[in-house]
Amino acid sequence: MRAASSFIIEPVGLSVETLPRPLNFAQLFGNTNPVELEIGFGKGTFLVEQSILRPEINFFGIEYANWFFRYASDRLRRRSPGNARTVRAEANFFIKEFIPDSSISVLHIYFPDPWPKARHHKRRLIQESFVPVMHRILRPGGRVQIVTDHQGYFEENIDPVIRTSGLKIVDYNRPGSASEGEFVGTNFERKYRREGRPFYAIAAMKPL
Ligand SMILES: C[S@@+](CC[C@H](N)C(=O)[O-])C[C@H]1O[C@@H](n2cnc3c(N)ncnc32)[C@H](O)[C@@H]1O
Repeated sequence: MRAASSFIIEPVGLSVETLPRPLNFAQLFGNTNPVELEIGFGKGTFLVEQSILRPEINFFGIEYANWFFRYASDRLRRRSPGNARTVRAEANFFIKEFIPDSSISVLHIYFPDPWPKARHHKRRLIQESFVPVMHRILRPGGRVQIVTDHQGYFEENIDPVIRTSGLKIVDYNRPGSASEGEFVGTNFERKYRREGRPFYAIAAMKPL
């Protein structure tokens, strides 16, 4: 008979109420592997595919929509090899309260909500106020990668904010799980590609 411990499922879907502030990633994952953070993981395709492809990396995802959080966490429980964690929270709040300084090796932001109406632009994730957040949580040499389908968001916020952030613009790295011709291969990218929309990508590195 197998020991009961073989059946313990990794705690993929975490609750903010039970987490220490700040987080201790080494304790949370049980190792000191690099941590990559995804904001707004939606159905979780990036986290599922990357955690399987790169077991030597710890993946942490933040998502505030309960349905997506539950859906993606369930996929990860069934498919990831134990190196992914998710939390349901608003990203700016969670990062401020829980993510330690210089702890993230790659920050992934794929198809962030564009908030197209002018009066809602202040809700966009990528804006001036996000620059010190990126500098604080990225390790020296750490990267941020952003892809969007929304030309306005890219031209008004993402591109100018990243270019004047003090981060160094670098080549965008296609994740290994992206299929031929894809930037990243998330559900939104696959849906928007079928509609023939163009995509905009940028990547930048925190200087060493
Ligand atoms: C357009 S969807 C993209 C989902 C996924 N990245 C993809 O490409 O398929 C944006 C996602 O980000 C989440 N989101 C937006 N703003 C957020 C925030 N401030 N904190 C946490 N999640 C957020 C939304 O709930 C949604 O699931």
